[in-house]
Amino acid sequence: MPEQLIDGFGRIHRDLRIAVTDRCNFRCTYCMPVEGMKWQPRSEILTFEEIERLARLMVDRYDVDSIRITGGEPTVRARLTVLIEKLAGLGVDLSMTTNGVTMESVAHDLRSAGLGRVNISIDSLRRDRFAGITRRDNLREVLAGIDAAVETGFEPVKLNVVVMAGVNDDEVVDFVEFGVERGVVVRFIEFMPLDADGGWHNEKVFTGQQIVDRVSEVHPLEQLERTSAPATRFRLLDGTGEIGVISSVSESFCTACDRVRITADGQFRNCLFATGETDVRALLRNGSSDDVIARALEDSVASKWAGHEINRVNFVRPSRSMSQIGG
Ligand code: GTP
Ligand code: 5AD
Ligand code: SF4
Repeated sequence: MPEQLIDGFGRIHRDLRIAVTDRCNFRCTYCMPVEGMKWQPRSEILTFEEIERLARLMVDRYDVDSIRITGGEPTVRARLTVLIEKLAGLGVDLSMTTNGVTMESVAHDLRSAGLGRVNISIDSLRRDRFAGITRRDNLREVLAGIDAAVETGFEPVKLNVVVMAGVNDDEVVDFVEFGVERGVVVRFIEFMPLDADGGWHNEKVFTGQQIVDRVSEVHPLEQLERTSAPATRFRLLDGTGEIGVISSVSESFCTACDRVRITADGQFRNCLFATGETDVRALLRNGSSDDVIARALEDSVASKWAGHEINRVNFVRPSRSMSQIGG
């Protein structure tokens, strides 16, 4: 029997998300405060060698078959292609989540280094609104980045749209049509309580059901079969494309979750909403053997909870914001 990263509910974990930096060139309102973010010092960030050792261990030992590079904004990390080459050598589904602002200039190098797919965040197609949400006037660059990602051959290219009630919910149909035009998969994400400002409120959540209802009025949908991924997928009945809805808040998908995370500063998290972390960086730096590190990962996963409790009174927000956890 091969070793498994398995929790007490029988969930086997094969999907690893690695944050390579906590820094970002945007300041999205739902993720970071306008100023005052304290970046982690360089010495606390895992080196590429440390990341590679950990990733290799998890692939070899636990059959991890999917690695996603996240941030902060991953392309802010210097020489990212060097890491991508190392991880591509592991033979996994290698992907990255990015804000897309530098994609036009880096897409080709990332692809050549072995990156397989990209998800690009974009929450408005209107310049002023985009600038309001991200606190940066870069819609033009992100649109060019999406085109560059498609032209470079990333497949599929997915767009992440965080939908906030009263902020951008009126753009849902525009986004569906934009996705059809550009040949990309648009995914709508419910606003989760992981913003650094503490501005999250239940009323600001525009639910997956509301999104589906809104789209269906114009473009009838058919739900597709679920996988372990967070998105519920829908096919446009006219055959022109597909959308996804990530209903983390209104309809948790925790029972099917197979993900673990490593933060840029080397803390292993068994859930996006976990309130505790395992200090893998300390083990990587104190001469611990692979067996010792593996035991720490197994213990963390074994103690994973059934799921987050965003909608319950006893929900405790993680002490770190999304940009520090890596999404
Ligand atoms: P693929 O489906 O593999 O393309 O990626 P993904 O959708 O899982 O990754 P991405 O980084 O694009 O994340 C999209 C949204 O899903 C973000 O808002 C993430 O924070 C959210 N998300 C990703 N993993 C989890 C998870 O384990 N739990 C919850 N609640 N949300 C998640
Ligand atoms: N709620 C939902 N999604 C979020 N993201 C960042 N913060 C939040 C939040 N509070 C998304 C980004 C990006 C991905 C990494 O996570 O838009 O697509
Ligand atoms: Fe940066 Fe992504 Fe956070 Fe926006 S959501 S501030 S792009 S890390």
